[in-house]
Amino acid sequence: MSSLRKKLIAGNWKMNKTAAEASALLKDIRIGVGKRNDVEVVVCPPFTALESSAVALEGSMVKLGAQNMHHEANGAFTGEISAPMLRSLFVTHVILGHSERRTLFGDTDKFVNQKVLSAIKNQLKPILCVGETLAERDAGTTLTVVKTQLEGGLEGVNKDTAATLVIAYEPVWAIGTGKVATTEQAQEVHAFIRGLLGKLFGDQTAQKIRILYGGSMKPANAGELLAQADIDGGLVGGASLEARSFLDLVAAAGTAV
Ligand code: PGA
Repeated sequence: MSSLRKKLIAGNWKMNKTAAEASALLKDIRIGVGKRNDVEVVVCPPFTALESSAVALEGSMVKLGAQNMHHEANGAFTGEISAPMLRSLFVTHVILGHSERRTLFGDTDKFVNQKVLSAIKNQLKPILCVGETLAERDAGTTLTVVKTQLEGGLEGVNKDTAATLVIAYEPVWAIGTGKVATTEQAQEVHAFIRGLLGKLFGDQTAQKIRILYGGSMKPANAGELLAQADIDGGLVGGASLEARSFLDLVAAAGTAV
């Protein structure tokens, strides 16, 4: 079944890299990725580096993503960026509902849902993030939390466009902490998410949707995670800021079955 889904490695640079630093890093990443097309590679620099990144990536296999956006096309939304603005910079993907946005900047499921719908309308591929905190895991509510975030974030998404969605399961306690979920913990939630996607969009579509793992993914732990039946790639923070570790993750995704 997993052969239906090309593995995807997405780098979430968060608030790191100036425009010039982004170009320098992407020069190495672009050379390292070369012409390989067995793995889909996406990098998500900060907004201020998108334009120089688009130039650095022109003609390469590496795709460009943003880390957030507003759902309106334009208007009085000081400090925000819209889907058409991202499209004009050759952005193809957008991370939505990252746990840092949810906890530090107040993104709710409803707000995330509006962004998901706007991204799809503007032909951007959403990378919708879901995941539980440590307190929620300890309380045994992981699956309930994930279900609420997933169903809330995907409300109103049309079955016909659902196959282009990317979901990222990111246990909050594993993000930037060096604490990675065990393969069993991750696979359990990924399989659960695929089941929910099946209920929402039908099994055939659910089999096409990539579900990424995120949270301290590193070359040393990636092989085992990526070998799981429902883990279709990674959303990578720390290890995406350096060409060697990011390229090692791309290579690990290429060899994972
Ligand atoms: P990390 O971040 O790889 O540094 O844990 C992942 C993320 O937040 O997307």
